[in-house]
Amino acid sequence: DIYKALKLTAGQVACIPFNSEDKITGFIELINKTGDHGYFSENDTIMITSIASQISRGIENYRLKEEKIKADRLSAIGNMMSTIVHDLRTPMNNIYGFVDLMLDEDDRDTREEYAEIVNDQIKLLNNMTTDVLDFAKGKTTILPVKHPVDKLVKNFAKLFEEDIKRKGYKFEWSVDTASMIYIDPEKISRVFMNIMKNALEAMEKGGTFRLQAGEAADMIVFNLSDTGSGIPEEIRERLFDSFVTSGKEGGTGLGLAIVKKVIDDHKGQIEVESETGKGTTFKISIPRLK
Ligand SMILES: Nc1ncnc2c1ncn2[C@@H]1O[C@H](COP(=O)(O)OP(=O)(O)OP(=O)(O)O)[C@@H](O)[C@H]1O
Ligand SMILES: [Mg+2]
Repeated sequence: DIYKALKLTAGQVACIPFNSEDKITGFIELINKTGDHGYFSENDTIMITSIASQISRGIENYRLKEEKIKADRLSAIGNMMSTIVHDLRTPMNNIYGFVDLMLDEDDRDTREEYAEIVNDQIKLLNNMTTDVLDFAKGKTTILPVKHPVDKLVKNFAKLFEEDIKRKGYKFEWSVDTASMIYIDPEKISRVFMNIMKNALEAMEKGGTFRLQAGEAADMIVFNLSDTGSGIPEEIRERLFDSFVTSGKEGGTGLGLAIVKKVIDDHKGQIEVESETGKGTTFKISIPRLK
């Protein structure tokens, strides 16, 4: 029909397929060679086949590139989702915990205090979901405000002290500065949260988690230490990389990658000292506001 429409009479037809992964994805069709009485020679076929194979390779490369772009995009979304889901669990557990406490609490003032915490944690969940949307829109990830160091540490302690003690660990905290810092308090609390979670996972019952804040030159320094097993030698070099995990079931290996990202966003530094069987200390420094 095509020949008819083009008003062509086919003499000889050369048809060469394009292959991709053993499937024919297209073909070149040549008809009616001019000269040579309309016939394609052996050499013509070799030439056309070679052109077809170049085109096939081009198509194949394009397809692979498209697939790679798609896979990269999926894995970026996957990474982000695991980060968010990872951190959403903590406020959710806090809400469960404090609602439980409220149910058993007769004192009205204490109940109110718990209700406030639940309220804050719901706000936190809400903000974290906003983070996801901001990330998807490519917006910046931290919202720094001028914040007193002692308030940061006290609020954190208030939120977790009871829970840690109930789980059978000791919790000590101290603030040795009246300075302010320029931080996103929710994000820094998430940093403390992730480091504390690791610390508790590395300790036997009776171990001590310590959070200290102080000053050194123009920095505020937070020391978060535990008396646990120490960081396994084989992962110390890659500790802050994503998906590096060791010795726990269900560990995603994202906790410390998130920590590093948030500290970098604050132009801060994080160092770690760890001794097998003795414990671990994370030292975080963030520029102080004068
Ligand atoms: N305080 C610590 N004491 C001993 N080992 C630690 C400590 N902190 C981290 N680690 C080690 O570093 C690894 C990486 O920690 P990270 O928080 O990034 O991931 P994870 O804890 O394995 O997973 P997730 O945070 O999702 O539960 C842990 O698996 C653990 O082996
Ligand atoms: Mg962790």
